[in-house]
Amino acid sequence: MDIQNATALVTGANRGIGKAIATELVRRGARKVYATARIPESIDIAGVEVLALDITDSGSVAAAARAATDVTLLVNNAGVSTFAPLVAGDLADIRREMDTNYWGTLSMVRAFAPVLAANGGGALLNVLSVMAWLGYEHSNGYGASKAAGWALTNGVRIELAAQGTQVSGLILASTDTDMMASIDVEKNRPEDVAATAIDGVAAGALEIIADDQSAAVKASLSGDPAEFYSGFAQAR
Ligand SMILES: NC(=O)c1ccc[n+]([C@@H]2O[C@H](COP(=O)([O-])OP(=O)(O)OC[C@H]3O[C@@H](n4cnc5c(N)ncnc54)[C@H](OP(=O)(O)O)[C@@H]3O)[C@@H](O)[C@H]2O)c1
Repeated sequence: MDIQNATALVTGANRGIGKAIATELVRRGARKVYATARIPESIDIAGVEVLALDITDSGSVAAAARAATDVTLLVNNAGVSTFAPLVAGDLADIRREMDTNYWGTLSMVRAFAPVLAANGGGALLNVLSVMAWLGYEHSNGYGASKAAGWALTNGVRIELAAQGTQVSGLILASTDTDMMASIDVEKNRPEDVAATAIDGVAAGALEIIADDQSAAVKASLSGDPAEFYSGFAQAR
């Protein structure tokens, strides 16, 4: 993917990782960057085209696909985390995570697949999470939505291969944004995650691992889960 020739659209570009990705795309000289958000007035990035977009609203998604017909790189970044546990958490929170992180992302993929095809195939980047690969108290509804997003990413990669669309997933752990403001752990900088993400897309990587923590969790998947989760319990 040639970033300088790309016309990108980033969801949730008003803050956090989405803002960092849109800013980095402008910095690298992308031809055009559509920065989108539920409240477009909240976007503060020089050099972008602003679009209103709520990924859980099918009318809004369809309107964005009609407006941005020149997109060659779609970045599905928008997401929510409610920290609801699966067993005792509020079902409305768990559904909101699935509605946004899974159904919203799928809605964007379906709306923009024909746009990408018409523009030569292009690329699609889904911002996932290391939580797709592990259980963790208070993040399990979120983790399930990101695991669904991971399966979606792998699935649409196959479905869109014939039209030449490169489909990548970004896996990351803790990054310093509003989403993680209440969690006191070591965090990556959104700017670094954005740079790694765009390097990965440019290099044609299908899975982009943004940090050592995510790489360690991925490596653990080939082992006995009992080993991984006992280490986890000791660390608490
Ligand atoms: N921060 C981390 O440690 C971390 C780790 C792993 C993965 N991630 C993933 O990274 C992505 C970005 O998260 P972040 O950390 O930057 O979180 P954030 O600071 O909370 O930002 C979330 C963004 O998603 C947008 N959004 C939420 N629902 C939306 C909807 N229905 N339609 C359009 N936009 C919507 C928000 O817009 P509003 O301003 O309108 O709410 C905001 O721009 C998410 O997919 C998240 O799951 C983050």
